Amino acid sequence: MKATAAAIDPVIWNDWYVVARSVDVPIGAVGRSRLLDTGIVLWRSADGAVQAWRDRCPHRSVQLSKGRVAGDRLVCPYHGLAFDPTGRCVLVPAHPGYTPPPQSHAETYAVQERYGLVYVCLGVPGQEIVDFPEWHEPGYRGLIAGPYTIHTSGPRAIENFLDVTHLPILHADILGSPQRPEIADYEVQVTPTGIEARNLRIWQPDPYGTGSGSEVVYDYRVERPLTAHLRKPNPSGANLALLYHVTPVSETECVGWMAMALNFGQEIPDAELIAFQDRIVQQDLDNLESHNPPQLPLNPAVEFHLPGDRTSLAYRKWLRQLGVQYGVMA
Ligand code: FES
Ligand code: FE
Repeated sequence: MKATAAAIDPVIWNDWYVVARSVDVPIGAVGRSRLLDTGIVLWRSADGAVQAWRDRCPHRSVQLSKGRVAGDRLVCPYHGLAFDPTGRCVLVPAHPGYTPPPQSHAETYAVQERYGLVYVCLGVPGQEIVDFPEWHEPGYRGLIAGPYTIHTSGPRAIENFLDVTHLPILHADILGSPQRPEIADYEVQVTPTGIEARNLRIWQPDPYGTGSGSEVVYDYRVERPLTAHLRKPNPSGANLALLYHVTPVSETECVGWMAMALNFGQEIPDAELIAFQDRIVQQDLDNLESHNPPQLPLNPAVEFHLPGDRTSLAYRKWLRQLGVQYGVMA
């Protein structure tokens, strides 16, 4: 039998992951998601609180996500057992006076909403959801792009987000130029909370939608194995920040969610900014899904590295230090 993430990797298991956008789970709705090989039912009760449970009725193991919400209860479609928001079975239609046993309790998970997203932790949360300071800064607009289903491991997807040398090639004439593909040296630090890469300079053909090319600076911060923060500061004050979350569906499939915050381009419609990210991710997809193996090798000798891969190398080294097992190979 295949070992579960719970058994092999407490670092990954006890973390927060995005499973939906908040707007996609309105009051009375039942949805489903998948995280770390585990089916999840999502529902929102009449008081507005979102719930995330194992997608399994404790009675006969059918999917609760095929059920319905009735006020502050989730009702199973099979025999109509109803569960309150704590997962307690409070109604058995066939036996009105019956007191259900403790095994009738639905398996509930920790859930929170932030940045317009629903986050779930299947285990015991070891830390808070990663901070996204720009989301709250005055003058910034916040948007959500995704979900992007990617058939590779979560660590491969995050590493691709940290990889700048591919920008002028794979995203030619959008995020870089094949005529100016050089990446100068930059700084990477392993900090007590993760890794930071500063002052990565890339020439881009039209970084601010003004029609003219310029060198831009990327600053990365990675504090959790499957979340990365990117800030594109500009001396003019026009800043773009991205919080990229990757949800591990399995060891070889993940879903990308991108929260964006920017303080310029107020005239650009949300749909246009999201379509831009969609286009970039589409270019990444085929390539990302061709990694063989999909698991990220943490042994530096398995693949070779360019000077510009400093951030990737630091990321792999840090995952190894943390003891991450899921989605990687030693
Ligand atoms: Fe859910 Fe019986 S299987 S009520
Ligand atoms: Fe890319």
